[in-house]
Amino acid sequence: TTVEWEAASYDMGGHDTYMHKEIHEQADAVDRVLRGRIDDRFSTVHLGGLNLDAREARQIRRVKILGCGTSYHAGQIGAQMIEELARIPADAEPASEFRYRNAVVDPDTLYVAVSQSGETYDVLAAVQELKRKGARVFGVVNVVGSAIAREADAGIYVHAGPEVCVVSTKCFTNTTVAFALLALHLGRTRDLSVRDGKRIIEGLRKLPEQITEVLKQEEEIKRLAEQYADARSMLFIGRVRGYPVAREASLKLKEVSYIHAEAYPASELKHGPLALIEPALPTVAIVPDDDLLEKNRAAMEEIKARSGRILAVAHQHEPKADETIVVPKNEDELDPILMGIPLQLLAYHTALALGRDIDKPRNLAKSVTVE
Ligand code: G6P
Repeated sequence: TTVEWEAASYDMGGHDTYMHKEIHEQADAVDRVLRGRIDDRFSTVHLGGLNLDAREARQIRRVKILGCGTSYHAGQIGAQMIEELARIPADAEPASEFRYRNAVVDPDTLYVAVSQSGETYDVLAAVQELKRKGARVFGVVNVVGSAIAREADAGIYVHAGPEVCVVSTKCFTNTTVAFALLALHLGRTRDLSVRDGKRIIEGLRKLPEQITEVLKQEEEIKRLAEQYADARSMLFIGRVRGYPVAREASLKLKEVSYIHAEAYPASELKHGPLALIEPALPTVAIVPDDDLLEKNRAAMEEIKARSGRILAVAHQHEPKADETIVVPKNEDELDPILMGIPLQLLAYHTALALGRDIDKPRNLAKSVTVE
């Protein structure tokens, strides 16, 4: 079954598709998820729905994030932020896998269920199973009062506003920002310094304007999409912070354009995917200007040496790539939030060029409320 918003209550505001509208709502959406939550005095954030005092926060030994589809990818970015900022071991797993593997449930682990709709059955069932075993479960959810929001012990609302297009864009971005807030909060109950807290807060505040900057490049990205639209398959690569961005971009492209796409850690290229490289298989490389920049450049060189074509998403023009989409630099830990946005536009314009049913891709539903 499908849960749908009442379309009448949410008009297209001059856009041809909800996906286009929602991509362009992201600066406002991020502004909303931040609003009222930043505490400049202590360089931290207030998350009213968390119900977690500092002592409890310090007792968390691990964080396990569960979600499906795009929410799972947002959770992967969230897990990295939590490890980086709070130094708590964290990882994300598809909720459906977690449910069926009789996972060890540990009382010192904080479980976080991520869901746009708050109704995805696999996530809800994982939450119920966890609670039955006495675990503490938080929700990172968009739809207020949804099943997962009600079932969770506490949580953070993502405040992306209604998302109608089956594929998730603005909610993905807002969820990664919500995770940055959670990571900052947990970090500041532990070893994250006031100075680093301040640095992250400044980075968060820059996001809405930087998103607007990225979206200004739409015409250029459209031109690129039209060039790549005849590809039969595309490879997306990234490393550490860039890898979940590559995974989400690959998912977005296949969902709306039906072009086959695969995401790989750039570090694993030599263990298999290099065999695929030829002019007809374009690669999209996520290349943040962080401590792995040179490693990413080396990966691009390997692809070029095999006549592969490369589109880079980077913080400056990348001479090794055939084309670069330049995005504004933020703090290293927050870079993944922005780097996925031009690739939403790439997926959108590829699908448009191919005449796809963008808001309702074949075989997919906005919310999968059955098994
Ligand atoms: C469906 C949608 C995806 C979404 C996933 C999880 O598969 O097509 O776009 O990411 O469900 O949905 P949720 O509402 O739990 O985030």
